[in-house]
Amino acid sequence: MCGIVGYIGGKSATPILINGLRRLEYRGYDSAGIATISKGKTLICKKQGKVAELDKACADSGSTIGIGHTRWATHGEPSELNAHPHQVGDITIVHNGIIENYADLKVELEKIGYEFKTKTDTEVLAALIDNEYKTATDISHAVRTALNKVAGTFGLALLSQKDEDLIVVARRGSPLILGIGDDEYFIASDTSAVVGYVEKVIYLEDDQLAVVARDGYDVVDLNNKAQSVQLHDLDQDQVKAEKEGFEHFLIKEIHEQPQVIADTMRGRLLKDGEVRLGGLNLDDDELRDLKQIIIIGCGTAYYAGMLGKYLLERLTGIPVSVEIGSEFRYRDAALNPENTVALFLSQSGETADTLASLAEIKRRGIHSLGLVNVVGSTLAREVDGGIYLHAGPEISVASTKAYSAMLTAVMLFGLKVARLKGLARSEALEFAESMESLPNEIKQTLGVSDEAKRVASQVKDIEHTFYLGRSDLYPVALEGSLKLMEVSYIHAQGYPTGEMKHGPIALIDEGFLSVVLLPEDELLYAKSISNIEEIKARKGKVLSVSSRPQPEQSDYHLIVPKVSQWIEPLVINVALQLFAYHMAVAKGNDVDQPRNLAKSVTVE
Ligand code: F6R
Repeated sequence: MCGIVGYIGGKSATPILINGLRRLEYRGYDSAGIATISKGKTLICKKQGKVAELDKACADSGSTIGIGHTRWATHGEPSELNAHPHQVGDITIVHNGIIENYADLKVELEKIGYEFKTKTDTEVLAALIDNEYKTATDISHAVRTALNKVAGTFGLALLSQKDEDLIVVARRGSPLILGIGDDEYFIASDTSAVVGYVEKVIYLEDDQLAVVARDGYDVVDLNNKAQSVQLHDLDQDQVKAEKEGFEHFLIKEIHEQPQVIADTMRGRLLKDGEVRLGGLNLDDDELRDLKQIIIIGCGTAYYAGMLGKYLLERLTGIPVSVEIGSEFRYRDAALNPENTVALFLSQSGETADTLASLAEIKRRGIHSLGLVNVVGSTLAREVDGGIYLHAGPEISVASTKAYSAMLTAVMLFGLKVARLKGLARSEALEFAESMESLPNEIKQTLGVSDEAKRVASQVKDIEHTFYLGRSDLYPVALEGSLKLMEVSYIHAQGYPTGEMKHGPIALIDEGFLSVVLLPEDELLYAKSISNIEEIKARKGKVLSVSSRPQPEQSDYHLIVPKVSQWIEPLVINVALQLFAYHMAVAKGNDVDQPRNLAKSVTVE
């Protein structure tokens, strides 16, 4: 999703801004731009499309102050005109988030003579600040007054032509950091843009504003109350991710999963089937007394949560409900705060709907745990405790390794709680053994890549697919369908296999592919084969995925290692990831940055 960079110091700003924007490319965007100030004049350079195009288009202005942006369209189509920065009068701004009352503000501003070139909410925000600056005592005052009039979310950086040596930044609901260098400052919406440039960062909190000058910075809240801030060490290990010989980040990250799972377990899954989780901030009695678990996430994280429910309920016997962030935040869920814990699943830790759900969970007085990948992200900082995923930077927009890491963390949590609730040592050891075998089993599963590629070359022109699974392969079917949709742009829908005959089967004809996940479990296998028969009777095509040999009824087959029921869903999921990847490649799509998608969804 949209990315912000900014620089003020002694060096030429343009190359620094362009490089920062390149580092933010993985978030997904449709246009990009930069603004610098030189001799009291603002220079703006924007382009629809990739940062490489922007780089070609923007000459180095020589200015040592500037801001930049990658835009993921919300208000107004992707275009050079709508790309940020937006300038109104003396104010030039880049903005992440959504100004919800922009239409009302626009009407008021038009009445006093402002004219707008774009349909963006950001241009309205720039005009609002410009107007406030006519009567405000200084730029900070103008920005604060304006921001106190807006509803919605913002992470913003702005330049003022009247204040050539200042950048003003502010945030509400959209991440923003200030990187502290030697006589220079960097601004970014994501630490990856400043790694290598600075060692210390400040994470701005909601409703904080910073005025960054050449010789220092001042942080206040929107009522101008001075704020004390904490300097954090920046993890320099998140070195610029490279493809390391793989053609795309997506396939590289799929291949990283054995290592990622091992990293998530390291030091936590102990030899004797015990689990050590240092950051939960719940003692053993509190964990033992748990009576309800809520899991909240969006997209792939939600589907990881759904599978987490199946695993946790079987393992711990505790009822688990799973909530989509964008739904939970607005529905009046009936929850008992006593003996309840809420697990928040998120790769980025910045997903707006997940963060809003966290606020709701906190309001209800429920203990929150973050199962988060990005260290220092908003979610990671705001939860009561948690388990870092240690999956490393996930660059591909479509999430793969974070999913496996989330489930590994959920299983660790489940095993810990189950042991406290009296799971027999022998059973705990059996479960732990399954977990320990996971990296190797996933390594074996990666061997199915060639076959997935061959099948993809044969079915790439299909337009509609079902992904079907029973029991804990149902959530995997949902995740598999999401992956296919995201990267191949083929219509895909996940269903519980047994639901087919209740309606969806009406769609089946010779142009329809059903990806059927077949479990090792005898009973469910037999039932699923009957469902394949029903599809074949209607001339539908079937791709089966299973540890068993290809059933005679299916047209294509991906075989995965035979593993315990606990980890079978994760293993089958890897085969589906590979299939989605090869479909995207076969179709010639932009695999790592699929159209219309953003890595970190920081708006509603
Ligand atoms: C799917 C995908 C999205 C994210 C979702 C949540 O491949 O990437 O569905 O899973 O936007 O993102 P996080 O995990 O960052 O909260």
